[in-house]
Amino acid sequence: MQDRTPRPEDLDPIERASVDELRALQLRRLQWSLRHAYDHVPQYRTMFDEVQAHPDDLREFADLARFPFTDKAVLRGNYPFGMFAVPREQVARLHASSGTTGRPTVVGYTRQDIRTWAELMARSIRASGGRRGDRVHIAYGYGLFTGGLGAHYGAEELGCTVIPMSGGMTERQVMLIKDFEPDVIMVTPSYMLAIVDEMRRQGLDPRGTSLAVGIFGAEPWTRDLRDEIEQQLDIHALDIYGLSEVMGPGVATECVETKDGLHVWEDHFYPEIIDPLTGEVLPDGETGELVFTSLSKQAMPVVRYRTRDLTRLLPGTARPMRRIEKITGRTDDMIILRGVNLFPTQIEELILRTPQLAPHFQCLLTREGRLDAMTVKVERRPGVEPVAAELAGRELARLVKNTIGVSVAVDVIAPDGVERSMGKMRRIVDQRPKD
Ligand code: DLL
Repeated sequence: MQDRTPRPEDLDPIERASVDELRALQLRRLQWSLRHAYDHVPQYRTMFDEVQAHPDDLREFADLARFPFTDKAVLRGNYPFGMFAVPREQVARLHASSGTTGRPTVVGYTRQDIRTWAELMARSIRASGGRRGDRVHIAYGYGLFTGGLGAHYGAEELGCTVIPMSGGMTERQVMLIKDFEPDVIMVTPSYMLAIVDEMRRQGLDPRGTSLAVGIFGAEPWTRDLRDEIEQQLDIHALDIYGLSEVMGPGVATECVETKDGLHVWEDHFYPEIIDPLTGEVLPDGETGELVFTSLSKQAMPVVRYRTRDLTRLLPGTARPMRRIEKITGRTDDMIILRGVNLFPTQIEELILRTPQLAPHFQCLLTREGRLDAMTVKVERRPGVEPVAAELAGRELARLVKNTIGVSVAVDVIAPDGVERSMGKMRRIVDQRPKD
């Protein structure tokens, strides 16, 4: 693997600042942001007034706990433009997150918001090992989803040559990787695996491509999958996190020199971890739900937005900003099976410890009588005999029972049997009757 550590002189000044300088900047911006939300968004004014929290009351970070949370329901309730803090004419772009049911959540950006986003994405790509002059293949979807355009503007800002491929047309993805020789690829980790399979199908050695860095996000993926991707492609595989409501990709990113969790770009977003049940703020180091307050957003400030993502906050290493640990899953993706909580990422980890099985899988939930049951549908790796794969399936069921503590069925199927996704992979298929 190439050495891709950025030169210190290429970093933004805040990436080299002291923690004290960072906290001072954050506090100033936090006071501005609460005031901006209160003055310009009736929903925030009502919610703040209800709990008698006034922007002037915020003197230190701990005071933030007095302010109310927001969540998807609050945004949906103000569909489409009710959360905007600037006149509509100043909104330069809209994006929306798909959502599984009903109305999408709409988000807006001023021209300045788009500049900030581009700068943070440029910073993220650089932290991941991308450099000015690199060719960047973007296979995140373009459109209302923030992945494609977010990555695009950031790569341009960094001074890269952008290949705006978008998701889908897997054969063509491989052809363009072969012909355009990109240095960096940005794509969901599950779609990267589909592209690797297609490379093999076309007789191309995945370790022999021009790629040096992959920047993967938009869905949970494990450290074991990082090892797998790094090994298969001979690239650095870095994690990038974000969500439309808070900005899009580039809220937090891993640094190539440490690969130890994602640094939150705290000069623009203030993170908290809360107990998802009580809403109580938890100290750094404890696991809970990640909450963000935006510090610089003009068009759509968010105050204590509940992401539903579970992680913990850790001190900065490669940068002064705090890190979040790789996200295990969302509260809504947690499967409760006969009283045991489990996430698809735990299954991914165990599959990757079973050499005969490929990390293409789904968790099927069904109901047998009054009990919920789960079947892990997983592919055997190409070249593995069905009989050996069958034994590996039994081994996986045993691993799940021993490490997670619950019995599941394992259905090992032929390569290509699990539907490929071009973006976020749907890991849970819930076939239980709705009651
Ligand atoms: O997925 C933005 C994005 C695009 C991030 C490209 C990274 C790369 P949404 O569609 O609004 O935005 O979905 C946000 O996706 O709350 C997490 O549950 C999940 N997610 C995003 N990145 C990661 C990650 C984009 N690195 C939701 N690890 C978030 C785990 C992630 N989950």
